[in-house]
Amino acid sequence: MQTNARISKAMTIKLEDLFDDLPKTPPFADGIRRAPARQFALGPKDTQLALKNALRYIPPKWHKKLAPEFLEELLTRGRVYGYRFRPKGRIHGRPMDDYQGACIEGRAFQVMIDNNLDFDVALYPYELVTYGETGQVCQNWMQYHLIKKYLETLSREQTLVMESGHPLGLFASSPEAPRVIITNGLMVGCFDDPQNWNRAAAIGVSNYGQMTAGGWMYIGPQGIVHGTYSTILNAGRDKLGIPADQDLAGRLFVTSGLGGMSGAQGKAIEIANGIGIIAEVDYSRIKTRLDQGWVSQVTEEPAEAFTVAAQHQQQKKSIAIAFYGNVVDLLEYSVNHNINIDLLSDQTSCHAVYEGGYCPQGISFEERTELLRSGHAGFKEMVDATLRRHYELIKALADRGTYFFDYGNSFLKAVFDAGVNEICKNGKDPIDGFVFQSYVEDIMGPILFDYGYGPFRWVCLSGKDEDLTKTDKAAMECIDPERRFQDRDNYVWIRDAAKNQLVVGTKARILYQDAMGRMNIALKFNGMVRKGQIGPVMLGRDHHDTGGTDSPFRETANIKDGSNITADMAIHCYSVNAARGMSLVALHNGGGVGIGNAINGGFGLVLDGSERVDGVIRRAIPWDVMGGVARRAWARNENSIDTSIQYNQMRAGSDHITIPYIADDKMIAKLVSEAFEKVKK
Ligand SMILES: NC(=O)c1ccc[n+]([C@@H]2O[C@H](COP(=O)([O-])OP(=O)(O)OC[C@H]3O[C@@H](n4cnc5c(N)ncnc54)[C@H](O)[C@@H]3O)[C@@H](O)[C@H]2O)c1
Repeated sequence: MQTNARISKAMTIKLEDLFDDLPKTPPFADGIRRAPARQFALGPKDTQLALKNALRYIPPKWHKKLAPEFLEELLTRGRVYGYRFRPKGRIHGRPMDDYQGACIEGRAFQVMIDNNLDFDVALYPYELVTYGETGQVCQNWMQYHLIKKYLETLSREQTLVMESGHPLGLFASSPEAPRVIITNGLMVGCFDDPQNWNRAAAIGVSNYGQMTAGGWMYIGPQGIVHGTYSTILNAGRDKLGIPADQDLAGRLFVTSGLGGMSGAQGKAIEIANGIGIIAEVDYSRIKTRLDQGWVSQVTEEPAEAFTVAAQHQQQKKSIAIAFYGNVVDLLEYSVNHNINIDLLSDQTSCHAVYEGGYCPQGISFEERTELLRSGHAGFKEMVDATLRRHYELIKALADRGTYFFDYGNSFLKAVFDAGVNEICKNGKDPIDGFVFQSYVEDIMGPILFDYGYGPFRWVCLSGKDEDLTKTDKAAMECIDPERRFQDRDNYVWIRDAAKNQLVVGTKARILYQDAMGRMNIALKFNGMVRKGQIGPVMLGRDHHDTGGTDSPFRETANIKDGSNITADMAIHCYSVNAARGMSLVALHNGGGVGIGNAINGGFGLVLDGSERVDGVIRRAIPWDVMGGVARRAWARNENSIDTSIQYNQMRAGSDHITIPYIADDKMIAKLVSEAFEKVKK
């Protein structure tokens, strides 16, 4: 039988050493958004398990005091967060030199974690949720403190192993190995569903990392502005016939959500020079975007929203208008009043549709929160009815010429789950896709991911504006705007990035780039660090990228060789990045589309100016992107085949991609139909 005295003696990193005494619960400041109560469906046995699990972090002298407190959190919030251990005051990513650490990476990751929990950045900072309704940095505040301590201790000869928010420990490795290796929410196949995952999260053994929340690479809503800008701009070009050198002047985009990622929509539509109406049920989120200048006007009636939009359309003046209300009410009005909408989407959190991600029609946001708190009675039915109505309205608008696309939030899947089989191409299940396209399937996949263009990003760890200015300029010098229209868009993006005031939180930048673009920029930055022109830089990307994510509902929605339901690519991307010495590697279940619907991975690489890091950049960054392009090429995606052919020429002697021969469709169809006819006879 183990004794707690023996266990305590065996650890040098433990919670009790970080606090002189049991800390007092810091007050909850007004105006900080709180996560709704999470689904609590544990029976007495599992509740006991959850408490014992949470108390694993707590020294026995505090058990009696904290056990009832944790139980209360579990019963009222659905999770044990350990609120008492919340740091006092505001958390934010400070300059790297403000942090303790035995190696630069250990300090850099602390900047990233604190930025993910910054009150200006995080969706529900008290519940450690960065974005996407449920995307957490880790499960509870006890883990937060231990992770910080581990990062302070971490040396270049060690790797910190993170399992769903739990710091498993430090293990000996080498300077060439990752300093941190992270997984979040991974489940064994037959248990890989929301119900089993919810139980695992409630008993404290799993964390929903979304993509960059649990992977510590979130850079605020800017991270998604560039992708959103490219998506709506290219939707306009592809679906509305706007020429490649023009923008969305005079065109109306209607959508919903001004939350973590969805909040980027207002800014993106203005940068693309169009007119946007964004429905949002939570006024606090409208206010955040209004204060930031990412929406310009708030309306409370659909009529007012469409009138303001029409005035701006006539003048071809861009504007982002927030509509304070339910998106279904807004669409109801446009259908009834025959208002023309050019582009239509939705960015409610449908990946967590019954957990508060999607507000039913006919109730306010506050009423929805109360229903969630008081045990969900009738909530699911209300959500389902609203989703069905939402679908009917979209259909009516699409019949009149509106282009609707799913924004990677599992909206189409949620409508299917609400009982609408006709939303499936085959009329029965999603295996062949849906009748409406997702933005990756139609736009981002073929136009960006298939070439390798994806959401490359960096954070200037010095916290200095001047470093960001220098990196923007250096990145711009690496882009040839004449090569492709995508390069021209990216060039314009980075040229105007400072003017567009995109930074919230740390001094960060997003820039879509392809494999060689990313490598060249990274080498240039590392050289600048070496010469002392800038401080160290953290490089990374969203998992939502060419090669980082396997998800038939989103990133791999335009993979048509049947492999869209496999997850080999994301796992290879992650493991090979680890083998090639990225500073941090992360692999998650779920991401933007929910548990069981995606496997996604990402990386972080600290540029310290060394020759060693030059080597990592050369080996790892092209792989990180081209692994995805190669898989897309193998799925016969045209633009990926082109990119792979060029890559094989460019990297002859070092890299080599297997490229598919293309069979004749007609010959195959004839052969198969004859064979089946024979069988029938
Ligand atoms: N932007 C992207 O490129 C992108 C990429 C990946 C995933 N997503 C997905 O988009 C979704 C949104 O992400 P987020 O981080 O903004 O989440 P979020 O939860 O922070 O924001 C969603 C917002 O929708 C609002 N909302 C819910 N129901 C509504 C309704 N019926 N009418 C009007 N507003 C309503 C909520 O109040 C909330 O503010 C997620 O499912 C996410 O996974 C977006």
